[in-house]
Amino acid sequence: MASFDRPPTLDRRLAKKRLVVSVPSKHAAAEADQLSLFARHGQHPRLGSARVLVTNGSGGSSADRVCLRPARASDEQILRTTHRAMARDDGFDFALGLTAAMSWPEYLAALENYRHGINLPAGIVPATFLLATVADVIVGRASIRHTLNDYLRQRGGHIGYAVLPEHRRRGYGTQILRRSIPIAQQLGIGDILISCDETNTGSRRIIESCAGQLESRLTWSDGTRILRYWIT
Ligand SMILES: CC(C)(COP(=O)(O)OP(=O)(O)OC[C@H]1O[C@@H](n2cnc3c(N)ncnc32)[C@H](O)[C@@H]1OP(=O)(O)O)[C@@H](O)C(=O)NCCC(=O)NCCS
Repeated sequence: MASFDRPPTLDRRLAKKRLVVSVPSKHAAAEADQLSLFARHGQHPRLGSARVLVTNGSGGSSADRVCLRPARASDEQILRTTHRAMARDDGFDFALGLTAAMSWPEYLAALENYRHGINLPAGIVPATFLLATVADVIVGRASIRHTLNDYLRQRGGHIGYAVLPEHRRRGYGTQILRRSIPIAQQLGIGDILISCDETNTGSRRIIESCAGQLESRLTWSDGTRILRYWIT
């Protein structure tokens, strides 16, 4: 069962099946995971199957506390596990350029090289890879590409993002893109191109809520419909 420093307060201010849970603890994110798990499986006696929005007790939601930071030595296990799982389940590369053969120090060095545009593998442009955390728990990642190549100009764009399956539908994806935009601007990217598959409703909503303007739709060689947006 979830444990709390003090009991959580349930607040039905928000719509229908969304409950605000105020958790006055620095471990709110981990506890949110447990609560969401119970809620999703209808096992929590008070939450039922509600969508859980966890706050820090001072009015902000857990999504407000998304931070972006570079990968570290201690991230190896979760990144390798997540990378394998998302490649299998989402067909998505979570950890940019990670292979099973690389040692972790080699991988961290490769990320640093990508950031500086050194020893880039074919098809990889200089990019800043950042992990998204909430109260020190890794919830997702962003990859900010400093320039575009032909591929990225059509599919991918300047910013790619992902949220770990167990942390989805809590606003983290939206915050990851929102926090990536000023970083891209600091890197000198003026107009930011972002694309997503037409069927990726979550990603579309994220881009549109970050003021993405739809420029065009194109059809990839495998028939996938791709939406291309600009954030200016
Ligand atoms: C797409 C992805 C990043 C969404 O992350 P998330 O943290 O769940 O997104 P959010 O919680 O910020 O949701 C944003 C909006 O999309 C909606 N949404 C999210 N996932 C959805 C889904 N599967 N179906 C329908 N709507 C969805 C949310 O309800 C929310 O709507 P709102 O703005 O009206 O409240 C996540 O599912 C993911 O990592 N997918 C695999 C990788 C990927 O597709 N990356 C994007 C490549 S372009």
